[in-house]
Amino acid sequence: MERGRFISLEGGEGAGKSTQIRLLAEALEARGKHVVVTREPGGTEGAEAIRALLLSGGQDRWNDATEALLFAAARADHVAKLIRPALDRGDWVLCDRFVDSTRAYQGGAGGMADADILMLHQIGSGGLLPDRTLLLDLPVEEGARRAAARSATADRMGAKARDYYQKVGARFRAMAEAEADRFRLIDAMGAPEDVSARLLAALDDLL
Ligand SMILES: Nc1ncnc2c1ncn2[C@@H]1O[C@H](COP(=O)(O)OP(=O)(O)OP(=O)(O)O)[C@@H](O)[C@H]1O
Ligand SMILES: [Mg+2]
Repeated sequence: MERGRFISLEGGEGAGKSTQIRLLAEALEARGKHVVVTREPGGTEGAEAIRALLLSGGQDRWNDATEALLFAAARADHVAKLIRPALDRGDWVLCDRFVDSTRAYQGGAGGMADADILMLHQIGSGGLLPDRTLLLDLPVEEGARRAAARSATADRMGAKARDYYQKVGARFRAMAEAEADRFRLIDAMGAPEDVSARLLAALDDLL
């Protein structure tokens, strides 16, 4: 059987990842694909338990290294128990954030070396990378406006200083440029249906 496709959606807070992953799943299902929608950190019982550790508590609960280790552990469980089995079945896996978020947040903004994060990913998850990574690109201010309109209180990862998110965005864009085969930079401004059409077009060669 043909192996499934692994697609990740990346981008800063409020860029529209969760909105777009739903629209993308519908569009792919309409084309007859079996689709599994999942998220990081999380997706399995163990990884969701680690998610709760990461997203609650004070800013000083974890530092960048302990965050990166927890993300790598959550991802290892998620890849072994959910993502690889789904791909082996031939399903399309759509993942709301993946290793590139750790590279952007704990790496680009937190200062951890990219090679160290990728080494943890190699140990935990065999270095599995998506077939395509769709980076939703939105000015930080617009993402913050959207996220604030959604909920008044941010979680632990969503409550850092503005400068932190500028660094996250810069690292995301640098990765997209350096790994142009895997990444597609998607303009996330405009109506959700318009953004969705851009995402689908960026998967054209995989369909
Ligand atoms: N194209 C759009 N235009 C305007 N508002 C949008 C658009 N897409 C999503 N939104 C709204 O913006 C908010 C953030 O969107 P969403 O939750 O999809 O972003 P996200 O990238 O998943 O954010 P987070 O990183 O915080 O999980 C939601 O209230 C959503 O309804
Ligand atoms: Mg979301």
